[in-house]
Amino acid sequence: MASVLEPKRSAGVSYQELISGDVVAPPATLKLENPLRSGPTSVPVRRYTTPEFHALEMQKLWPKVWQMACREEEIPNDGDYVRYEVGSYSIIVVRTATGIRAHHNVCRHRGRKLVTEDGHAASFICPFHGFSWHTDGSNRSVTSEWDFPQVDRSDFSLTPVQADTWGGWVFINMDMNADPLASFLGDLPAHFAVWSPEKRYIQAHVAKVMKCNWKLCQEAFMEAFHVINTHPQILTGIGDENSQYDAWGNFSRAITPNATPSPHLRRQPSEQEMFESVIMRHLDDPPAPQVPEGMTARAMMAAGVRAGMSQVVGSDVPLSDACLSDSIYYTLFPNFHPWGGYNRIVYRFRPYQNRFDRSIMECYYMSPFAGERPPPAPIHWLDEDQPWTDAQELGLLAKVFTQDTFNLPHVQLGLEAAQYDEVVLANYQETKLRHFHHLLAQVIAKP
Ligand code: FES
Ligand SMILES: [Fe+2]
Repeated sequence: MASVLEPKRSAGVSYQELISGDVVAPPATLKLENPLRSGPTSVPVRRYTTPEFHALEMQKLWPKVWQMACREEEIPNDGDYVRYEVGSYSIIVVRTATGIRAHHNVCRHRGRKLVTEDGHAASFICPFHGFSWHTDGSNRSVTSEWDFPQVDRSDFSLTPVQADTWGGWVFINMDMNADPLASFLGDLPAHFAVWSPEKRYIQAHVAKVMKCNWKLCQEAFMEAFHVINTHPQILTGIGDENSQYDAWGNFSRAITPNATPSPHLRRQPSEQEMFESVIMRHLDDPPAPQVPEGMTARAMMAAGVRAGMSQVVGSDVPLSDACLSDSIYYTLFPNFHPWGGYNRIVYRFRPYQNRFDRSIMECYYMSPFAGERPPPAPIHWLDEDQPWTDAQELGLLAKVFTQDTFNLPHVQLGLEAAQYDEVVLANYQETKLRHFHHLLAQVIAKP
């Protein structure tokens, strides 16, 4: 039975106290608090370590849930298509004259994958025996049609998949009876309205094969609890333990304040020390101006970013200190992680091939732009032995990812070696993990 858990909080300034002193006030959604009071505080180890649980996800999760498949800008013209693959499933997402459609990427004859690259097509022609389908999924031709008296071409379409969009993202759902995307998203679009996710372009897109279960991988990016040991070099200017964690419906949120001291520090750093710590992480070419007397590092950091950003997004867009300074990281169940504010990061995680112990981690940099939309960056793949630093387009963040992912193969192998049944979770700081596993358990329990 779920217990009622009133979350305790760390020492130091709460996020709500911190933003109450900001120079430019945050949007209303950042003033909301909705801690998760009930739900799991432990997770069965076998969710990460067994082909049986992976098979359950393949049966009950992925074919039933809305998931981000691509950006609209990746298929700008009629006939443009991309593949979205998750575990054993392969989906074609294609722009047609009547909008974006999605189909299973499987020939209706003897099952060859219809396409093995992204591209542009007037129709999909199977390379094996040449059966073909229009981009809307209806059948175009059956080779030696006289030999298939049992086939009714009007009822021989590619297996359909639902497709819908929000914020420039294309989502698919293999369950044709699933509730609409809008009801699945709930209030998420309202949280993002102020940041206009549709007005971003793909500045960078890196995908890497990871030696761990997809859930382990994403969970390393759902809390700031790991900062003290994994990224000790940034403690001077991050309120790691003062992060705020909330959950609503199918999404959760963490907000980690920057340019504020970690409660773990023994000595209170100066505003100058905090400022320098933060710009080392955020700007590619760090200058070190002095924080004027009476100004906070936080206000200085926001002011520095604000000037450049307002030239891109327009001076009529309110640019709060929080939206320019803090790490605001949302998770839409099960695997989509768009960051809020003016941070560019978006993550997606999914199983690699059909394996429980390998995953794909993707990082997009979604940047605002002035004038015409720049073309989307192509995906840059890193194999399981390539370091993140091979992706130079990620800049300084690649080093942080190297720290994040250093632990993960050891967590996977550790859990496979574990002689206990459950992983225990922090009540507050691992809120997002608890919320995810609460939803996952509901999905898996369905008949
Ligand atoms: S398998 Fe596709 S045409 Fe035969
Ligand atoms: Fe990290």
